[in-house]
Amino acid sequence: MQEIIEFTLNGEPARLTTDGDRRLLWVLRTDLALTGTKCGCGKGLCGACTVLLDRKAVRSCVLPVRQVKGKEVITIEGLARDGKLHPLQKAFAELDGLQCGFCTPGMILAAYGLLQEKPEPTRDEIVQDLDRNLCRCGAHVRILEAIQSAARVMKGGVRS
Ligand code: FES
Ligand code: FES
Repeated sequence: MQEIIEFTLNGEPARLTTDGDRRLLWVLRTDLALTGTKCGCGKGLCGACTVLLDRKAVRSCVLPVRQVKGKEVITIEGLARDGKLHPLQKAFAELDGLQCGFCTPGMILAAYGLLQEKPEPTRDEIVQDLDRNLCRCGAHVRILEAIQSAARVMKGGVRS
């Protein structure tokens, strides 16, 4: 059924008329041209499609778009501020927390969600929280290092 969906997208008001059962991932990618959000499995299993909904990491491939009504959605395109990369983006880039980069937007936003709840996660807590975000390139060790580094920066610490 067609319905009006109003929400905040990367800090700006968004309004569209669409079938509310459509998955957020496809609305982002095909209607709004925000292709930073990736489709890996399309079944909620890999984390490539992770975005933030009210600052919590969610899987957009299984989320009906009507569920974002009145809420705030942040995609990887909305994470940088005033032309400056977010500390997580910077750490992934500087510490090579990626190879092909396909999993990277989902990894970064999943990590963002974790750091909102736990600003100083242990290595084990990061592993556990991101356990369902898959990287087919096997960049997990450097991804972990990037998240730990960003957590230090976000706490005002200096990266070692
Ligand atoms: S594409 Fe959404 S979890 Fe894999
Ligand atoms: S960097 Fe290629 S899938 Fe993770």
